Amino acid sequence: MKTILYMGISPNGYIAKEDGNSEWTSDEDLKGFYDESKKAGNIILGKNTFLETSRQGYFPFPDAVNVVVTHREFENKWGKNVVFTDKSPKEILSMLKGMGFTTALLAGGGMLNASFAREGLIDEIYFDVEPLLFGKGIKVFADTDFGCELELLETKQLNKNTIQLHYRVV
Ligand SMILES: NC(=O)c1ccc[n+]([C@@H]2O[C@H](COP(=O)([O-])OP(=O)(O)OC[C@H]3O[C@@H](n4cnc5c(N)ncnc54)[C@H](OP(=O)(O)O)[C@@H]3O)[C@@H](O)[C@H]2O)c1
Repeated sequence: MKTILYMGISPNGYIAKEDGNSEWTSDEDLKGFYDESKKAGNIILGKNTFLETSRQGYFPFPDAVNVVVTHREFENKWGKNVVFTDKSPKEILSMLKGMGFTTALLAGGGMLNASFAREGLIDEIYFDVEPLLFGKGIKVFADTDFGCELELLETKQLNKNTIQLHYRVV
């Protein structure tokens, strides 16, 4: 099972402003994310990302099983393409494998990314680096004790000001 992380980030490593807003990412970032989610057939998102994408009107993402990780109870208004779970990252990957998937797409936010990173469960990363800076917000990995080396697989210019970095975790 391969796990890919796909994030739109600021050059200083934020994925959302302090209030949770991430609507500053480009159309190309959103399209790239949709394409990867379609290929994988699934996405895994934390509760705060679920709430924020619901507010923005993007949830559930089409053509993919949307796995929302939370310890809270939510009413599933969407049917079988949405799964609420309190399983651990490892258990979620086993569940997706059992459903026949070979790739999992990790869709944030910072806390969920950190818990996958801490367990060494991320194999590839796409960072779409967007052209704006801000000094306070939600980091791509919430503060946690982990580290890994990256191999740069590809860089792509997505538009005039946005660069995509594609890494393999060594
Ligand atoms: N720029 C981008 O590409 C991008 C992508 C995704 C998200 N975002 C932004 O990221 C923000 C949300 O990030 P966030 O760090 O605040 O929250 P998050 O990672 O989306 O959600 C964290 C919540 O998920 C639940 N959870 C359950 N199991 C967990 C586990 N093993 N590890 C971590 N969390 C677990 C917890 O809620 P319970 O208490 O319910 O268990 C936790 O409080 C949003 O504002 C969104 O806009 C940006």
